Amino acid sequence: MTQKIKLAVLVSGSGSNLQALIDACAQDHYPAEIAVVISNKAKAFGLERAQKAGIPTHIINHREHEGREGFDAALVETIQSYDVDLVCLAGFMRILTPVFISAFEGRILNTHPSLLPKHGGAGMYGMHVHEAVIAAGDRTSGCTIHEVIVDVDRGPIILQKSVDVKEDDTPDTLAKRVLAQEHIAYREAVKMLAEKLLNSSST
Ligand code: GRF
Repeated sequence: MTQKIKLAVLVSGSGSNLQALIDACAQDHYPAEIAVVISNKAKAFGLERAQKAGIPTHIINHREHEGREGFDAALVETIQSYDVDLVCLAGFMRILTPVFISAFEGRILNTHPSLLPKHGGAGMYGMHVHEAVIAAGDRTSGCTIHEVIVDVDRGPIILQKSVDVKEDDTPDTLAKRVLAQEHIAYREAVKMLAEKLLNSSST
């Protein structure tokens, strides 16, 4: 039987990247399983996706905690209770502080809908990114799976996938094409890191 690492996935919205990971983890030979899904938004559709797949979920509302650090400490406590190997941010719309990042140093991944370092940083999320790509006249865009460090969108890049920007693209049509690549890239990146972690623990 394939050995599997444990993931925590953090979402704030639709959770289509979460779904891509749920589907990948459902395969016997995929080297990861999702131990817990956490959202800061009670209405995030990602929670329903997780529940449907039988994965434990938690809602941790950032408004109910003292500052960013208080929220991060609550996240850390919950995630640590599941003993996970890797934390995957999948459309999680909160900036994390050193309280969170130092607890899982080198083991936090994020997906960003551009070819970083282009179009990243604070305020560059969702449609803002695709609008910026089109406004800059870029002929190519894509997605980046990267490690999360305190500097927003600046962590080491693990994997990128490109898409062409078409003459008649709108932010919406571009977003859809990039999102499809994020699903593929996230599955690949988690597989790569899981294999690395499993190899290092068996040697
Ligand atoms: C993705 O494009 C991700 O890069 C961005 O938000 C989107 C999340 O989509 N930060 P989903 O919630 O996984 O469907």
